[in-house]
Amino acid sequence: MSAPPDASPRPIIIDTDPGQDDAIAILAALAAPELAVLGITAVAGNVPLELTARNACILVELAGRPEVPVFAGCDRPLRRDLVTAEHVHGKTGIDGAELPEPVTAPQPRHAVEWMTETVLAAGEREITICPLGPMTNVATMLEAAPEAARNIREIVCMGGGFFGGGNTTPVAEFNVFVDPDAAQIVLHCGAPVTMLPQDVTHKALMTDAWINRVRGLGTRTGVAAAGMLEFYERYDVDKYGTTGGPLHDPNVIAYLLRPDLYEGRHCNVEVETDSPLTLGMTVVDWWGVTDRPSNCHYITDVDSNGFYNLLYTLLARLP
Ligand code: BDR
Ligand code: CA
Repeated sequence: MSAPPDASPRPIIIDTDPGQDDAIAILAALAAPELAVLGITAVAGNVPLELTARNACILVELAGRPEVPVFAGCDRPLRRDLVTAEHVHGKTGIDGAELPEPVTAPQPRHAVEWMTETVLAAGEREITICPLGPMTNVATMLEAAPEAARNIREIVCMGGGFFGGGNTTPVAEFNVFVDPDAAQIVLHCGAPVTMLPQDVTHKALMTDAWINRVRGLGTRTGVAAAGMLEFYERYDVDKYGTTGGPLHDPNVIAYLLRPDLYEGRHCNVEVETDSPLTLGMTVVDWWGVTDRPSNCHYITDVDSNGFYNLLYTLLARLP
């Protein structure tokens, strides 16, 4: 996990709709010395924007990092009505933990304005963007300032699903389903894109033992994280009949820190943006049966133990 001794931390922007799994991803990123979280941009997704921005403020405070700025971004998808997922995440988005009202508030600037300025001011291939929700903020930036792509080192997102169908419709995963137009823009922006779809996140299911280990840290973060995760996994355990649920978004942070835990393939991925039947489907040309150029590093495998050990180590560093 450790970066070479003289390497400076990798600058990242977390674009997110917390969400309990977003919460764990944010906490993990804030705990990693190899990453410099420049800011957290909130987007509407799991719950409306007002709540996702508020939740991001709660999380930076929980991690003891209130200086990390939070920006509120787009309150609806590019070209459609917002679909939310309170049935999964609860009314607040991060139900399951007793957390104090945030003292900090989102910054006054719009997230897309801040993200655009930050990326344009950076050097070539400098900034990594980590979308953990619908990609509306990132796509809005790329539509207005396509030249921003050259300063993006990589976009590492949680989204999509192909081999195992979808979790929101038979073929569409939630983040891509909510804003398929945004996902398609991101996939075609010209910057390297790595996608951690539900095909991989479903290969690393939580266990009660792991959640109990996290609670057993005895820290405020450990106790809050365990409470959120128990609440969060109940929906998937019931839906899939498994003993544990997937922990989607932290895979993005784990991939940044330990890409060796993951395997995938560079191939073409397109998003269906028209058909009412298959809207939001990520069509993955895994076998190269078209001549469409590769635009995505599509991840399908993970070392589950390695992933959960890494996450535990990170959470253990927080207050
Ligand atoms: C994705 O959708 C949200 O519910 C989760 O936070 C995750 O980003 C999984 O499909
Ligand atoms: Ca999310």
